[in-house]
Amino acid sequence: MDGGSESTASVDQTSYVKDVQHKPVSSLMFSVKEGVGTLAGALKIFKKHGVSLNYIESRVSQSKTDSYEFVVTCQNVNGQMNDVIAQLKSDLKSEVLLLTSDKKNKDGTPWFPRRIEDLDHFANQILSYGSELDSDHPGFTDPVYRKRRKEFADIAFNYKHGQPIPSVKYTDEEVKTWNTIFTNLKNLFPTHACREFNRVFPLLEEHCGYKVDNIPQLEDISKFLQKTTGFRLRPVAGLLSSRDFLAGLAFRVFHSTQYIRHHSKPLYTPEPDICHELIGHVPLFADPSFAQFSQEIGLVSLGAPDDWIQKLATCYWFTVEFGLCRQNGEIKAYGAGLLSSFGELQYCLSDKPELRDFDPIKTAVQTYPITQYQPIYYVADCFESAKNKMQALCEKIPRPFAVRYNPYTQSVEVIDSKEKLLHLADSMRGEFNVLRDAVSRIN
Ligand SMILES: [Fe+2]
Repeated sequence: MDGGSESTASVDQTSYVKDVQHKPVSSLMFSVKEGVGTLAGALKIFKKHGVSLNYIESRVSQSKTDSYEFVVTCQNVNGQMNDVIAQLKSDLKSEVLLLTSDKKNKDGTPWFPRRIEDLDHFANQILSYGSELDSDHPGFTDPVYRKRRKEFADIAFNYKHGQPIPSVKYTDEEVKTWNTIFTNLKNLFPTHACREFNRVFPLLEEHCGYKVDNIPQLEDISKFLQKTTGFRLRPVAGLLSSRDFLAGLAFRVFHSTQYIRHHSKPLYTPEPDICHELIGHVPLFADPSFAQFSQEIGLVSLGAPDDWIQKLATCYWFTVEFGLCRQNGEIKAYGAGLLSSFGELQYCLSDKPELRDFDPIKTAVQTYPITQYQPIYYVADCFESAKNKMQALCEKIPRPFAVRYNPYTQSVEVIDSKEKLLHLADSMRGEFNVLRDAVSRIN
């Protein structure tokens, strides 16, 4: 996206889906003592074992004095990461944490979280701390902004499930940026946003501090969502893999950034920020049908092969991020990338883009740009219909089990045997009885 544009870029999930190419990568974090040449020594170890680095980021260690921590992402060549890790530990006395790996379940499918607390692992499975900025980022040359981004990254990095999300005192400059975005977008919502969004938005103004002169707190919103649909927010420090991000949705957990874009370009951001999350995403997570749709994408992603994660992430892109729907003979926006972008929200309902009916089998393999307005949007009849269509796609995912979310234990049940199937049938019998009873009484 042209950074000089007065419109917002197609913000979004870009950072969450950057890895959709799904080349096998591993990320690890290791610490080294401060000193000349220690990093060079570490890099020699990677070179010696033929492991090439795609990405490296550093910061002062939060837990060890006089030490630095490095997060690296690398091509995992034939399991040689194990040799690298062993030598980092022996030669440099490094503490090493493998962040992402090819961890598997017993049946050979990719590992996935079973309990909501397991999502804490993702805090350390980020592909970066989220505080390093690319050279073309509006805040790249602003040391105050960069320092601020590190503060936000640290809040999320240290967050554990069950804790209240720490409040943030936003600066006047940050509130001014929010004000500009909030004011511009709010004027468009009555005519451009779907009815479910417009139904929830006033509730957020009433209960969660959505105002022109206030950036709402994640904790207040998370509590509100838990009361409405059981969705909750948790702060995220950096970039999550698509697999991890989708897995969060399976537990009705949405990983949210807490920082705001750079003040110099209030209507542009190259990555998701709190405006995108709170204005674009949050309202529809309070809608039961949309919440269900989002969770189901998450549930089918658990244990799915890599190529299917890519397909699901693409469907996520064209629905949760950039989806349109039909309502009363008109096209309306429900995707968060649209509802948080002043420019694209107008563009998507103009006669410029191509509109196609949402058809997950075709949508799942559609390519798309991530740095400009979308040339193609997919239109759903309603969330219910989108969900049903997604189910047809998801039935094709090769996975030797079914999963069900148990809201009482906040865990995922894996149904992979006749015994578990019978147990599931038994637990559902009570609900069918309620349904039968209700039908007979109402009739
Ligand atoms: Fe998003």
